[in-house]
Amino acid sequence: MALLIRNGEIVTAGSRVHADIYVENETVTKIGKNLEAPPNAETIDATGKLVFPGFIDPHVHIYLPFMATFAKDTHETGSIAALVGGTTTYIEMCCPNRNDDALEGYELWKSKAAGNSACDYAFHMSVTKFVKETESQLRQIVADGTASFKIFLAYKNFFGVDDGEMYQTLELAKRLGVITTAHCENAELVARLQQKLLAEGKTGSEWHEPSRRESVETEGTGRFATFLENTGATGYVVHLSCEKALRVALDAKVRGVKIHVESVLPHFLLDKTYAERPGVEGMKHVMSPPLRAKHNQDVLWSALAGGSIDTVGTDHCPFDTEQKVLGKDSFVNIPNGIPGIEDRVNLLYTHGVKGGRLDLERFVDCASTRAAKLFGLFPRKGTIAVGSDADLVVYDTSYRGVVSAKSQHVNNDYNGFEGMEIEGRPSVVTVRGKVQVCNGEFVGQRGRGKMLKREPSHF
Ligand code: URP
Ligand code: ZN
Ligand code: ZN
Repeated sequence: MALLIRNGEIVTAGSRVHADIYVENETVTKIGKNLEAPPNAETIDATGKLVFPGFIDPHVHIYLPFMATFAKDTHETGSIAALVGGTTTYIEMCCPNRNDDALEGYELWKSKAAGNSACDYAFHMSVTKFVKETESQLRQIVADGTASFKIFLAYKNFFGVDDGEMYQTLELAKRLGVITTAHCENAELVARLQQKLLAEGKTGSEWHEPSRRESVETEGTGRFATFLENTGATGYVVHLSCEKALRVALDAKVRGVKIHVESVLPHFLLDKTYAERPGVEGMKHVMSPPLRAKHNQDVLWSALAGGSIDTVGTDHCPFDTEQKVLGKDSFVNIPNGIPGIEDRVNLLYTHGVKGGRLDLERFVDCASTRAAKLFGLFPRKGTIAVGSDADLVVYDTSYRGVVSAKSQHVNNDYNGFEGMEIEGRPSVVTVRGKVQVCNGEFVGQRGRGKMLKREPSHF
């Protein structure tokens, strides 16, 4: 069915214009003033509202066996939460561990998502070892439309790769034109510091950050950059948390290294005192790299505004209270992760745009367009243009609310951003022209989401 969105202010990464948007067969076919629509077309009045391209979360975990348990969302719950919050596409980390076969893992991750997501999705393929069959398996996976890799320099003996494996992955990525995303922490230092702290009787969640200090992340970021420099591959640092790590990434960029930077919602809004709270309250705020000293936040915000941090993801990774207390006797056993897929857009709008730190175009860029460009989805996703998928967010800037686990759609019993105020939320969200969300509620079709096939573009 045709859809007409009338009279909103259309905001893309490069423009703001008052106009109507007409959608046929899942794509935008006209943009202009006073567009006519056939009588049977669905019409949405966006007067006084902003209309954004569907937001893209470039870093989420839905199906994730990790730290002796499983992340809580299914593709159904995670995608509905994403959509209610304005995210119409997510890129999930496909994370088989070192003992798994990569291709079997890829098929398993695909099978978990297929037919279950209400929004569109893609994968980053984790390379967690490099053995004789790895190259041919990765070639098959890229040919299947998954044109980005993920490596972990952390999580020794589980997801983590050594330097030789990192080199082989990047060298292959360069030949295939694939971008490689990386979790940058020095695995050896993390293991040694964890053991040292535990031996000193330091077992609580407040010791998680000291076991993965800023220098541990900075070393990983610098090493990743050096390997990019020496292979010519293109890289993307995920969930960068602090000024020191940012500086080494930007130094590399100045040297001509093809390196991009993501930071994630918790690092802009939460600091390490959250993880220092007593008992399970602290455990709820354990993620890696850890929440940092507050002074880092101003640096991240200004780097984001200036574009040297490219994107804001979430690293959505929900573990509930019962799972978090697996680490009650030792911080090394607290499942790492803070969910945020539902809250990213509203909190970024509130603290970024309303807080005077981001202009509207850059907000769209960092939460949608830049990820679409880096990960081979643009201009199908990440903008509003004739020919683009009609993933549209009609945004009500007069809405006022409070983030709470009580009202969330994420499958979890707490929210790490509990009590934060939001100044705006999506009033309508469409996925390829179909209304999926209306005024904070999912009203659409479960399982509508498609896996997005992407071509390599980083030669
Ligand atoms: O704490 C985190 N970040 N959990 C998810 C796994 C990862 O490292 O991305
Ligand atoms: Zn990570
Ligand atoms: Zn992650």
